[in-house]
Amino acid sequence: METEKKDHLINHEYQTLHEVVKALNQPGDIKSILESALRAITQFEEIKVQRKAGIFLADEAGKVLNLFAVIGDLSEEFMEKEKVVPYGSCLCGRAAESGELLMSESCFTDPRHERTFTDMTAHGHYIVPMKLHDRLVGIMFLYTNTEPSWYKHSQEVLLSIGGLMAHAVQSRQESRELEDYKNRLVEMVHAQTKSLVTANRDLEQKIEEKTRLSQRLEASARKLRDLGNHIQSIREEEKTRIAREVHDELGQALTGLKMDLAFLESDCAKDAEALKKIAQMKQATDATMRSVQRISAELRPVMLDTFGLWEAVSSQLEEFQKRSGLKTELKGSLDGMESDPELETILFRIFQETLTNVLRHADASRVSVCFSLENESVIMKVSDNGKGLDLKKTEDAQSLGILGMRERALMRNGSVEFENERGALVTVRIPLNARRRVDES
Ligand SMILES: Nc1ncnc2c1ncn2[C@@H]1O[C@H](COP(=O)(O)OP(=O)(O)OP(=O)(O)O)[C@@H](O)[C@H]1O
Ligand SMILES: [Mg+2]
Repeated sequence: METEKKDHLINHEYQTLHEVVKALNQPGDIKSILESALRAITQFEEIKVQRKAGIFLADEAGKVLNLFAVIGDLSEEFMEKEKVVPYGSCLCGRAAESGELLMSESCFTDPRHERTFTDMTAHGHYIVPMKLHDRLVGIMFLYTNTEPSWYKHSQEVLLSIGGLMAHAVQSRQESRELEDYKNRLVEMVHAQTKSLVTANRDLEQKIEEKTRLSQRLEASARKLRDLGNHIQSIREEEKTRIAREVHDELGQALTGLKMDLAFLESDCAKDAEALKKIAQMKQATDATMRSVQRISAELRPVMLDTFGLWEAVSSQLEEFQKRSGLKTELKGSLDGMESDPELETILFRIFQETLTNVLRHADASRVSVCFSLENESVIMKVSDNGKGLDLKKTEDAQSLGILGMRERALMRNGSVEFENERGALVTVRIPLNARRRVDES
């Protein structure tokens, strides 16, 4: 080729390359980008290209080419028949298999041009593989006049354009995959956030329900306790009234009886039989008087109202020692505790129940009571030297004695604890300032 002609060709090659790169770098969908790149190549008249070309994308796994983009006047028959072309078939299929650029002089003389169409006019072809790192991305087919240019440099330019196109397709595919992946991730995050929000709302509702329920439970427990306290004080008042009546009415009647007997005694001074009878009756009256005193003291110890808790416990212990033979002991002090009849009654009743329990269950020979004031609380410890208690029983709903002790302590926000030391140890702890708090609530 003469130098001037050659320079012109090379110039045009660069210009074509420039146009192709410009087309491939434009924004938009990959199909229209490839179509404008094809249009740029078909301007390259020096290599005898016609304004008719197309691109197949390679399905390497399925070993087929799928028609993707075309420009120029291609018949409906062509579009239908060339939708899918297997590797190895016709010129494009061959180029796909070999990965090499193919050129065909004429569709009528080239035996490799196997696929033909109605009213097909004479033409040649450049079949250019679109490869990226040896991987086939697609095939570009260009129509030419018969006997296209065999100029080697132009073939290399076409191969480079194939590479550029492969790169464009690949990067679009990758960015589309990335976009899809990103969208899927965003969807997943959305879905998860949604389900988290729902779960959170459910949880909040459940917590609300639970809180409401526990508030209702607390309220009814408080009502029950208030009711228990009320019943307890009514019982205490009733016992006091009965104790007073038993003591006063029966006591006076018996004293009257004793006086009558003394009178009778002096009247029947000579009747030995009658005197013996009277003496027996006086003894019976004394015994009855003692019973009346004991019963009224048990109902409501006079000592508690008159002298307070310490004295009442002390006298009850003495009485207990006499009756049971167990050795008793009172230790500590209640000095500094203000008079508080309700609190004293609570402690005294708990003390009475522990004493009864020692007698009934402990097999003990000694019982000791110790009072102290610590951290704004009054503490009463009752211990024995018996066999100790079964701690499971102290939590048992059947243990009514112990339940009653706990309830009484709770009336003033107090507690009762059970332990085994040398025998059983019962510790009652009641806050001294709790009354105001209980009244306020
Ligand atoms: N000091 C103690 N030593 C050994 N066991 C004890 C002692 N105090 C209580 N217990 C055990 O604890 C149990 C529960 O006592 P609780 O006072 O509740 O019931 P109870 O005395 O059996 O019957 P009650 O209802 O008449 O009081 C008793 O049955 C007994 O087994
Ligand atoms: Mg008991």
